[in-house]
Amino acid sequence: MPEHVHLTPLHRISVTDAAAWHRVVAASMTHDLPGVPPPTPGQIHAQLTKPGLDSHQLTWLAGGPDGAAVGVGTIRLFTAPGREHLAELQLHVDPAHRRRGTGSLLLSAVVAACRTEGRRSLIVEVAADSPGEAFCERWGLRRALTLSHLRLRLDQLDETWIGETSEATRPGYRLAGWTGTVPDDLAEAFAAAKTAMNDMPVGDLDYGTLHWDADRVRAMAKVLADRGDTLLTLAAVHDDGAMAGYTEIVLPQGTPPQALQYDTAVVPAHRGHGLGLWVKAAMVRRLRAEYPGVAEIETDNAEDNVHMLAVNQRLGFRPYRRTHEYQLDLPTV
Ligand SMILES: CC(C)(COP(=O)(O)OP(=O)(O)OC[C@H]1O[C@@H](n2cnc3c(N)ncnc32)[C@H](O)[C@@H]1OP(=O)(O)O)[C@@H](O)C(=O)NCCC(=O)NCCS
Repeated sequence: MPEHVHLTPLHRISVTDAAAWHRVVAASMTHDLPGVPPPTPGQIHAQLTKPGLDSHQLTWLAGGPDGAAVGVGTIRLFTAPGREHLAELQLHVDPAHRRRGTGSLLLSAVVAACRTEGRRSLIVEVAADSPGEAFCERWGLRRALTLSHLRLRLDQLDETWIGETSEATRPGYRLAGWTGTVPDDLAEAFAAAKTAMNDMPVGDLDYGTLHWDADRVRAMAKVLADRGDTLLTLAAVHDDGAMAGYTEIVLPQGTPPQALQYDTAVVPAHRGHGLGLWVKAAMVRRLRAEYPGVAEIETDNAEDNVHMLAVNQRLGFRPYRRTHEYQLDLPTV
């Protein structure tokens, strides 16, 4: 049955707005993704007030007849060269208020904003076999990529194997690790390795390419630090000074038990030497030593990213759910 819903674009996010937002997202995720911890109120506030690198956000709150929030929507508009065509959507409607047109109302505001902003691609990640999929199909979004989400339980590790793998030498390479911002002497090499992430499989997503330089990698670390997150990096550095590969883990603010895998990349010229497994095993070991309160690592991989999936399976990651990236192609004038 249609419900009287009022959309409010939010220009400045108050603590009250963030709390309302959190209530909707937590109710929605608990309904559709049981077992996946929703973000904390602090994380939601940080996400809404401190947008990611090279991007800004537009946000809407849908209020029901009594003014209470029943739905939320946000788009992240990328501003870096190579991604200026792209907008990334998050949309949630409180399960008690679904199938009354609120999601559609939010999406129409989002699509209008994408047109105004000259975006040709709107992408959104949706849980497999969820209402979100039916909603995307209804509104003509196309499925562009399938992601497998995996978890590594750190209390179920093969510690001996992890120790041997991380300690094994790789002739011509050494391990380097840091917390937060990359050390100056590795910054250029790190930026070059990050640019190698552009060849990661993205299915049919119109994801664009990003060029990284030393300033951008520092800025990325600052965004995470400003949110209260801890960024850990481990890299394989070649004798000639090039960074051959690296892996990044983020510990969200508030020391939750779950760590998030960010990038792992091995530069094409250095593939086939077991470096991906090496840096990831060393990272697991480091986490165990430095952050014993962390119970698991969460990651996602494109289903056709067979090499990364094989590395993760060998480390002990196990798949536990799937999501799809949907894309809406918007005509540009
Ligand atoms: C997806 C979501 C935002 C939809 O919100 P909503 O307010 O229920 O959406 P609407 O009422 O506007 O639905 C519009 C149409 O989408 C389709 N649809 C939505 N939910 C559906 C479901 N559970 N089963 C089948 N079709 C569905 C229907 O065609 C529906 O029209 P109808 O109700 O007249 O049949 C909501 O289910 C949600 O928050 N899901 C979890 C988060 C998520 O997946 N977000 C990504 C969405 S892009």
